[in-house]
Amino acid sequence: MTQTDIDRLLDGQKHMHGLAQAFYRDPGVYARDIEHIYLNAWLYAGHQSEIPQPGDWFLYELERESVIIVRDNEGAINALVNVCRHRGSRVCLQSKGRSKRLACRYHGWVYDLDGALIAARQMEEGFDLSKHGLKRIHCELLQGMIFINFSSEPASFEPIQDQLGSCLAPYHLDTAKVAHRQDYPMQANWKLAVENYTECYHCTPAHPEYSRGHSLAHPDMESGEAYQALLAAAPACGLGDREINRIYLDAEGFGADYAYEHYPLIRGHVTGSEDGKPVAPLLGDIADYFGGCTDFQVGPVTFALAYCDHVVIYAFRPLGPDTSTCDITWLVCGDAVEGEDYDKERLTWLWDVTTHADKRIIENNAAGVNSRYYTPGPYSKMEDYTWKFIDWYLSAIRGVAG
Ligand code: FES
Ligand SMILES: [Fe+2]
Repeated sequence: MTQTDIDRLLDGQKHMHGLAQAFYRDPGVYARDIEHIYLNAWLYAGHQSEIPQPGDWFLYELERESVIIVRDNEGAINALVNVCRHRGSRVCLQSKGRSKRLACRYHGWVYDLDGALIAARQMEEGFDLSKHGLKRIHCELLQGMIFINFSSEPASFEPIQDQLGSCLAPYHLDTAKVAHRQDYPMQANWKLAVENYTECYHCTPAHPEYSRGHSLAHPDMESGEAYQALLAAAPACGLGDREINRIYLDAEGFGADYAYEHYPLIRGHVTGSEDGKPVAPLLGDIADYFGGCTDFQVGPVTFALAYCDHVVIYAFRPLGPDTSTCDITWLVCGDAVEGEDYDKERLTWLWDVTTHADKRIIENNAAGVNSRYYTPGPYSKMEDYTWKFIDWYLSAIRGVAG
């Protein structure tokens, strides 16, 4: 589709209805999604505990881009573009590693851990090393979680840091560690995956395991006394009683939005596990299992669920017009020992089962959306967050001229 065709498609989009088919299939729309959304938003890349020592690095890959997330000798975390300043080869070739320096294998240029070029063999006299360091993109830490932004002028991270950072402080996620990380690739456009994540209309039919313990699957519970009592218990456990929500408001400043909200678990459940019983030691300053959990969101495509004893982070990434992946990270208290304080199978069971189910329904959704008979249908009340996302998406890809 040409840019004009896409603008026409945007004009024809029906309010509070699913997107027209081309939004999920067309390479032109996909290119605009990457350019306007993914290259402008704050994106979750990983957790600082994954690179504890100077020289530890891992790659974050998005479309044609590859970024080296590396800890330098001063302990700072850098996001360096994985493109050699000589003739453009990838410098780091594995998904992660530990190196004293970053050396390009093609002709042997060598970079320091902060990206500075420190050696280039047999170059002309007068060649200026200092002008040929690896390019870097913006990188911020929120409670140990690493967020990157490809834009040269990203929306300020400060509101996220101030507002969300203080809400999350009791969890001490900066001292947490990654217990497990797994990608769940799927045959579906990234928006179908995000739409699915942002609604719980599908929870009862698709997720019996999740619905047993989480009130979000049962909207009729929301006004009940038990619900209010559980919410009131959160501050006594060291968690703020605040609810903040600055997400999907408009296209301006997008990528710097955030949300944070408690909700109760169903009686008998204190965390997200198969039997509702604890799966790891309490996090940070959380004093007790208060019977609830906390949803939070950073930027448009990173979501997290914080239980009292672990946090699950979901980061959605496109892999092509009709493929995407959900990268899931499980965080536990930093000094918890696997096999003693937690069992990885028990810890990851619920969201592994649930994400496999999500992958199935999202792929079924994609198959139907690709049909020549597909027409977008209306959203339900339980999908209000999803149509907020869609509304935001439409204004974001219209609003930022490419
Ligand atoms: S491309 Fe890296 S040293 Fe030549
Ligand atoms: Fe789901």
